[in-house]
Amino acid sequence: MEKYIIKGGTPLVGEVEIGGAKNAALAILAASIMTDETVLIENVPDVRDTNVMMQSMESIGAQIVKLDRHTYKINGSRIHNQVILNEGIKKIRASYYLIGALLGKYRNAEVPLPGGCNLGTRAIDQHIKGFRGLGATVNVRHGSVIAHAENLRGAHIFMDKVSVGATINVIMAAVMAEGRTVIENAAKEPHVVDLANFLNSMGANIKGAGTDVIRINGVPKLHKTEYTIIPDQIEAGTYLMAAAATQGDITVKNVIPKHLECIYAKLSEIGCQVQESDDEVRVVATGKLGNTQVKTLPYPGFPTDMQPQMTVILGMSQGISIVTESIFDNRFKYVDELARMGSDIKVEGNTAIITGVDRYTGAEIAAPDLRAGAALVIGALAAEGESVVTDVRYIQRGYEDFHLKLAKLGGQIELVDVPDENENNYTETSFGKVVS
Ligand code: UD1
Repeated sequence: MEKYIIKGGTPLVGEVEIGGAKNAALAILAASIMTDETVLIENVPDVRDTNVMMQSMESIGAQIVKLDRHTYKINGSRIHNQVILNEGIKKIRASYYLIGALLGKYRNAEVPLPGGCNLGTRAIDQHIKGFRGLGATVNVRHGSVIAHAENLRGAHIFMDKVSVGATINVIMAAVMAEGRTVIENAAKEPHVVDLANFLNSMGANIKGAGTDVIRINGVPKLHKTEYTIIPDQIEAGTYLMAAAATQGDITVKNVIPKHLECIYAKLSEIGCQVQESDDEVRVVATGKLGNTQVKTLPYPGFPTDMQPQMTVILGMSQGISIVTESIFDNRFKYVDELARMGSDIKVEGNTAIITGVDRYTGAEIAAPDLRAGAALVIGALAAEGESVVTDVRYIQRGYEDFHLKLAKLGGQIELVDVPDENENNYTETSFGKVVS
């Protein structure tokens, strides 16, 4: 079992390169099999979720060649069936993107129900409603979503809830449907826009991505493309939060500052200095930070994926802060772990009432999920003394070289591997040969 051993109390200082967006990559990888021509994708983050996604694609016949750590050539012409049996896929939420991609291209898909972080109820009714709206028959049987259509026809689809996954999935199912689809109340997250840009570069006709009304004119087929995935908003935001938590000074490089505004606006409000340029954002924190109120909302609101990191900072800030989680119904599980480091946080329903403490003290803590895991690491880096963070496999689902990047910023963090017989490991994968 891998663990992080962290000695806290050192301000993190320096520059950090941000990788490709995990959540955009997962959608784009799935969509890459929607043409029979070869697609080149750059800036794919080397994290567990993207590796599991590619392994599942390979299991149905996609050919994937790794050109370097972040660049892949993908060809979907030899896909021989649309039934995903791969075990690993059950562990990631984005498995559902293979339903939209396969249904859109082959009019047929059978994919195990999605897993991913346990953040409470994670329904897929809006995905199913969208597929059915386009004319597909969709059933859930023996733990899999089974979708089939003789013909997909464009339709007017009103999402009852703003959902990133459902918006992306319906776009994929609709790009090669007959006629025009309109998605109302669509999600506006940067990765929805990235997926639409990717599909448009393959010949799709999608307009309005980034607004709440997306219009898609179906095209008969898609073609090859070369595409670079956008930088990861949440990875970048996490390092900015690490600067704030440790009284540090961090510049995130290779980012789209506009995507980070909703995050650094809060840091600025509690007293951090923020500077942005074309593709960099710098956060400097000196002295005790202030308190605030935060409510998670769909983009461009404050992202739910930054909520645990923000709570960790507010737990050491002056006065009382309130954090309200409005996207997921079980996203404060990490608060019990943070309490081991001396925090004073009371959770009532979907609200955390945070009384800032002077500082955290090192403890043994377990990462409950991806983002909360990263947040606890940040807390440990700020804490006095040594911490041990277990279950780091959750963090590795979405952060490439997390401990190495933190160490480069001066964090005293080490990854150690202790054998554990009961460990439920992810199956690792390798893709062809690395061609230089
Ligand atoms: C995606 C992100 C995740 C992020 C989340 C919100 C990926 C792989 N994951 O997750 O990191 O935290 O967006 O920004 O991109 N809902 C329904 N019915 C549905 C779909 C969703 O009720 O059919 C609800 C969910 O339970 C949740 C809310 O809508 O309460 C938002 O979910 P959604 O935007 O779909 O999140 P994901 O796509 O799962």
